[in-house]
Amino acid sequence: MRQYQLKGAMGTVTNRLAISDELSRAQSSGPAGAEATHAKNVAPVDTSAVSPRPEGSIYMGGFRASKIENVRVAVIGLGERGVLQTLHFLSIPHCEVVAVCDPYDGAAKAMANQIEQCTGRRPAEYDKNSMAYKKMLTEVKPDAVIINTPWETHAQMAIDAMESGAHAFVEVPLAITLEDLWRVVDTSERTQKHCMMLENCNYGRNELMFLNMVRQGLIGELLHGEAAYIHELRMQMFSEDRGCGSWRTNHYASRNGNLYPTHGLGPVAQYMNLARGEDSFDRIVSFSSPAKGRAAYAKKNFAPDHKWNKLEFKCGDMSSSLIKTKLGRTILVQWDETSPRPYDRKNLIQGTEGTLADYPLRVAGERISPGVSEIPEKGGQPGGAEISSEGGYHEWYEGDAAEKGLYSKYDHPLYKRLGEKARKKDNRGGMNYIMLCRVIECLHNGEPMDQNVYEGAFWSAVGPLSEKSVNEGGAPQIFPDFTRGDWKNTAPLPVIR
Ligand SMILES: NC(=O)c1ccc[n+]([C@@H]2O[C@H](COP(=O)([O-])OP(=O)(O)OC[C@H]3O[C@@H](n4cnc5c(N)ncnc54)[C@H](O)[C@@H]3O)[C@@H](O)[C@H]2O)c1
Repeated sequence: MRQYQLKGAMGTVTNRLAISDELSRAQSSGPAGAEATHAKNVAPVDTSAVSPRPEGSIYMGGFRASKIENVRVAVIGLGERGVLQTLHFLSIPHCEVVAVCDPYDGAAKAMANQIEQCTGRRPAEYDKNSMAYKKMLTEVKPDAVIINTPWETHAQMAIDAMESGAHAFVEVPLAITLEDLWRVVDTSERTQKHCMMLENCNYGRNELMFLNMVRQGLIGELLHGEAAYIHELRMQMFSEDRGCGSWRTNHYASRNGNLYPTHGLGPVAQYMNLARGEDSFDRIVSFSSPAKGRAAYAKKNFAPDHKWNKLEFKCGDMSSSLIKTKLGRTILVQWDETSPRPYDRKNLIQGTEGTLADYPLRVAGERISPGVSEIPEKGGQPGGAEISSEGGYHEWYEGDAAEKGLYSKYDHPLYKRLGEKARKKDNRGGMNYIMLCRVIECLHNGEPMDQNVYEGAFWSAVGPLSEKSVNEGGAPQIFPDFTRGDWKNTAPLPVIR
């Protein structure tokens, strides 16, 4: 395992959250922690006040930037995620990694060495301190900046990247406060630079397939979705000085809500065309379970005087939120990185004629269950379905049977085009590679991004809104309309070939 020393203006890792204040004017949305036992205010809390779009700024939904022949990419943050993303770029056509930045001793150098070995070209290295990325933006003037740093730094880095003339691509979540989400949206509109949150789960095989199936109308009118990120990650606490656990653990101590909502929500939001013409986010209620698991884990695995045993963990182990959309649809969003539970993103979409679900893959529906035979379109007559056994949709496909029956028929064209190569490159079934291929393709061809800045903002807003709801005993919170009403004229994400 490589070891790195923190150096320069970053100070010590234990004050990482404090350091990032330097970057992000970090604000907390209300007093963190204490969860009221009953709703203080059952009327929706309106956090949605929207100021008019400033003159000279433009709406960025569907925005097309000028085509870029060869995309010059700079990467900020070379931890677990940054290294993985950077290596992917080396085999994607029409791009070059021209600069890398990380203040840990050795991180930028190690990455630059690896890039030089693979490509014969050495990128510029920036590693002096936590502000070195600004120097990189000024000196290198990249076309695209990829931000893979701790959550609290995302917003300011994206803003600085766009201000410098680059398109910004930001790891999840886009920002952790509503104020910062607005600053990101406003900067993107003013500078007319893309700002895409990199929600890789939208490029999972099953997520892409469900999008394809939903677009074909196979489950009728959409009613309800379920989304989650349930992934036991307590072992990250062993990354005490560097790595995800070294900064993420402080978030569990200081906040209470759904701190990581976008992996499950992103795909469901795109099935429903939320903030894209058809429907949008309206309100959210949220509750947290007691916060037990982190403290118990710290007690069991670390010395009594260890820094983790000095924290008071506020964040409920399981967070459950319910979103209501403008059309009245519902979405359950859950998050738990603490409890021993099977991994689950839920990925469930339910319509009037069927339901697609994941973990494991299951489908049932009037047109897609076992015992339902499809009637193809013939002689101008529309096709349909015939239920051969009594109520065919009382049976459903599950696991291998579902995979066999569905992938060959409904795999998304993008997955058919890139999936095999992506699977070889990417231990998460190819989703990261497909996502980064699309980022470069869109920049190269001057196409709109698959996820616009408003989607990143809405999906991430579940973080601060759930914190506020939990803090107010589950009181409903209204989503700010980051599009200022323009979602109504935004095209749904098409099924990309
Ligand atoms: N989409 C996914 O599946 C997925 C998976 C893991 C992590 N993530 C996200 O990726 C981001 C990074 O996570 P990670 O696991 O790689 O964390 P990490 O701690 O391993 O890496 C973060 C890196 O950022 C560097 N950094 C911190 N401040 C910096 C600054 N001012 N300038 C330059 N570099 C700086 C750190 O030195 C560290 O190397 C997080 O936002 C996380 O939520 C996403």
